[in-house]
Amino acid sequence: MDSPRILLLIFLLLLLFLSPDNQQPSPSQRVELDNLIAEERNALGVLRSSRYGDLDANRGIWLNITGFRGGNALAWGVLPKVKDRVREQLKYLLGEEGQRKLDGLDGPVTAGAGVDGGKAWDRSQAKEEQTPFYQNVTGMVYGKWTRSRLSQDLRPPHINLTTLAPWAGFVTREYDRNVTGSSGKLQLRLDEKTGVGLVVGGDLVREIAGTMTLQDESSPGDGWEIGLHGVHFQSFGGIILTTTSEKFAGLFALPHLSLSPHTYSLAKDLLNKTLSSAILKQESSISASLMYPRSYSPSHPSDILFSTPRCEYIVYLQQDPMEFRVRGVSSATLNLIEDELRFPTGAPVPGAPDMVMSMTLFSPDCGFVLESMGPPEFTPQSAGHLKGPKIESFLWLARRFSSFFAIICSLQILLLIRQMNEAATPSTVSRVSFYTIAIMAMGDGFVLMGFLTVGIYIDAAFLSLFSTAFIAFLSVCVFGMRFLIAIWRVQAPERRERGRPAGSVNNAPSPAGQTPSRTESLPPPVTASAVNRASPVIILPPDQDLAAAEAEENATDQNTNQRTTTDPSNAIGALYTRFYIILLGLIFLSLYATSWPETLRSIYANVLVFTYLSFWTPQIYRNVMRNCRKALRWDFVIGQSILRLTPIVYVYSVPDNIMYIETDGRMAIALTAWVWVQIWILVSQEVLGPRFAVPNGWAPPAYDYHPVLREDDLESGAMPIGFTQVAEEEDVGKSNSSMAAGEASPRVKRRRSWDCAICMQDIVVHIVPSGSSSGNEAAGSASVGLGSGILGRRGYMVTPCRHIFHSQCLEGWMRVRLQCPICRETLPPV
Ligand SMILES: *[C@@H]1O[C@H](CO)[C@@H](O)[C@H](O)[C@H]1NC(C)=O
Ligand SMILES: *[C@@H]1O[C@H](CO)[C@@H](O)[C@H](O)[C@H]1NC(C)=O
Ligand SMILES: *[C@@H]1O[C@H](CO)[C@@H](O)[C@H](O)[C@H]1NC(C)=O
Ligand SMILES: *[C@@H]1O[C@H](CO)[C@@H](O)[C@H](O)[C@H]1NC(C)=O
Ligand SMILES: *[C@@H]1O[C@H](CO)[C@@H](O)[C@H](O)[C@H]1NC(C)=O
Repeated sequence: MDSPRILLLIFLLLLLFLSPDNQQPSPSQRVELDNLIAEERNALGVLRSSRYGDLDANRGIWLNITGFRGGNALAWGVLPKVKDRVREQLKYLLGEEGQRKLDGLDGPVTAGAGVDGGKAWDRSQAKEEQTPFYQNVTGMVYGKWTRSRLSQDLRPPHINLTTLAPWAGFVTREYDRNVTGSSGKLQLRLDEKTGVGLVVGGDLVREIAGTMTLQDESSPGDGWEIGLHGVHFQSFGGIILTTTSEKFAGLFALPHLSLSPHTYSLAKDLLNKTLSSAILKQESSISASLMYPRSYSPSHPSDILFSTPRCEYIVYLQQDPMEFRVRGVSSATLNLIEDELRFPTGAPVPGAPDMVMSMTLFSPDCGFVLESMGPPEFTPQSAGHLKGPKIESFLWLARRFSSFFAIICSLQILLLIRQMNEAATPSTVSRVSFYTIAIMAMGDGFVLMGFLTVGIYIDAAFLSLFSTAFIAFLSVCVFGMRFLIAIWRVQAPERRERGRPAGSVNNAPSPAGQTPSRTESLPPPVTASAVNRASPVIILPPDQDLAAAEAEENATDQNTNQRTTTDPSNAIGALYTRFYIILLGLIFLSLYATSWPETLRSIYANVLVFTYLSFWTPQIYRNVMRNCRKALRWDFVIGQSILRLTPIVYVYSVPDNIMYIETDGRMAIALTAWVWVQIWILVSQEVLGPRFAVPNGWAPPAYDYHPVLREDDLESGAMPIGFTQVAEEEDVGKSNSSMAAGEASPRVKRRRSWDCAICMQDIVVHIVPSGSSSGNEAAGSASVGLGSGILGRRGYMVTPCRHIFHSQCLEGWMRVRLQCPICRETLPPV
């Protein structure tokens, strides 16, 4: 049992030791780095000496920068059309103001963000009609893309990779990230770094980085991850981003992609500054992995060995101020909102609207143009370009969600503790299904791992995410595991008996003197020998203290364990190993599933969630198999169902939920209904008996504590012993029936009464009179009705040793020990 654990440990240690770490570059890497730096210096020199319009493929004017040279056959001829398309969108969103801003004629808008704050305030007050834009777009936007009509007259270029980048040494000619679908989804995370900004003539331009996840039918998992760098023109909310790689020095030529001479010079000044400092950093750095701005770094040999060419992207984004206009948010107010988000002081500002951006994406080497879906081509209802929260709003939501989850987990623990207190004795623990609790603990394990991983990635919400993870940890590893071990211990004999022939339901620890045939043949017809054995009545004092009883019970329990198990701690170790291996396996499988195609992934997720929410099913099954009820407290059942369902229903049904999962209302309803059905089955089992809808013979026979008592039993000796009065009320019944015009005797109800040895009160029971055949019995029970038939029988319990008690009394007793209070005979569990 130890070997898998050791293997796992060795595997983890190997992973730890063999993972690459950043060391000094080898001499060959140093040479490579020097070449790279020389090339970058060259490209920067070209950029410095160039002017706007120096890249014009249609007139045969090229830049001497990798990817922009003539003869490389990249689709630069389309660039002017793409720029026109972007201008069109700008004009649609901003009107004439957009063009004026592009030309730098409209005066600067440089409020907030620490750039001479006082003057900016004055200016923005003077220009109240200025279109408001977010100055800091750090955050994420997502939406749908479609192929632009520009793609139609664009042939995929045929590029000779050998001439384009002879040093790159690609192993294939197949391009990665080649978008072939006609539409798909897209997510873009934007990150504006602090400090890398430049004010030129009052206009502010800032460096910006982004990570795009682009998805179409052929993309793996969520889509291709694309690292982008670029500039953000804050006066009109325009952003240009580009990829940079060994065969495409996009960032060095980015100013030439801008829309006007004014923005060209802004971008050029900024990049001149940032790129030269980046190159200086590279020269002085000892580590080759600091390769800014390259998207690939040669410090990983595998990257060079198996490098495949990738499509390069140029992305134009334009902020859409529509939402601000609709809400009447002026640019001054927007600045206040942004400040308040970033440095909360509690100032009364309106809530921050989501960012909305339109996008045009152009791939010069794979030859396609994509656009975000939205107005004016699409109705705002069907698609609204790219939309999403600023990072602060997102983090706020994340913290809220995390706290919410922490509350849920704490309540779950509370319910679990109450349930554990309730199920404190072996006889009560043996009713609880191991798998019900195990599935719940698995779910908490997922929560734990989820919050831990996300917490590592999101620094800003680290604290709240980790505290939630900690509560989930308590839930799994402390309380859940303790309960599981308790159940596992108590139910150990039962698992061993599983190999035996069916019918061995009585798995409760039995005293050593018991004959095995007795335990295996339930329900026993109460035989004369049982009477004989029962007759020396041993009455336990009612004030016998519980601790003593429990100690005795434990002793017998341990006896049984010792008889049959060699080493209980070994079994517990196996339980630990199995539980954590299954949990880890599921987590790894789920991580792996994130790279599956979308339909497969959603099927996987739905199956996983469905299996998780089936947690009451094992309990229902156990109730049926062991014919027992009252395993779990009702507050536990209802509470756990609600608490575990709530986050899932939230994710499935709330649009814009924290995980950006597409909603599926029908699935949410189906899942809720499934849990609801399971609860109702549990309720019915409680009320109608655990096997209310199970045909005879489907489940192993079990002792029926609520038998129909007949007068015939009196003769056959099956009637509970010790009834005192033979039904004075028989006369009443007779007189009643004779009043009703002399009915036949089968209809007459008879009653007997006994003493309950536990509460010393009378038990009055209706007796089915003698002479009623089986056909008559059916008719009789029909006339008595379901209510007083089944429910009436629930009032008393008859033990196999033919003692009768009130159900409440005996159940209370059996929670503590499974022995008849009168004769100490072992009782089958309820
Ligand atoms: C680029 O920056 C350098 C200093 O880093 C400066 O000397 C040079 O004039 C700048 N060139 C242009 C075209 O702005
Ligand atoms: C481009 O730059 C390289 C230096 O890296 C130089 O050798 C080459 O002659 C230049 N080509 C043109 C057309 O200027
Ligand atoms: C690419 O160019 C190299 C040299 O310029 C040439 O030898 C090779 O045949 C070309 N490859 C293709 C597929 O045209
Ligand atoms: C933009 O906001 C983010 C998140 O608050 C912050 O980390 C970043 O420094 C800000 N950038 C600027 C330029 O202020
Ligand atoms: C991209 O895929 C299309 C369709 O499969 C193909 O025609 C085109 O040549 C591919 N582009 C590149 C650069 O491989």
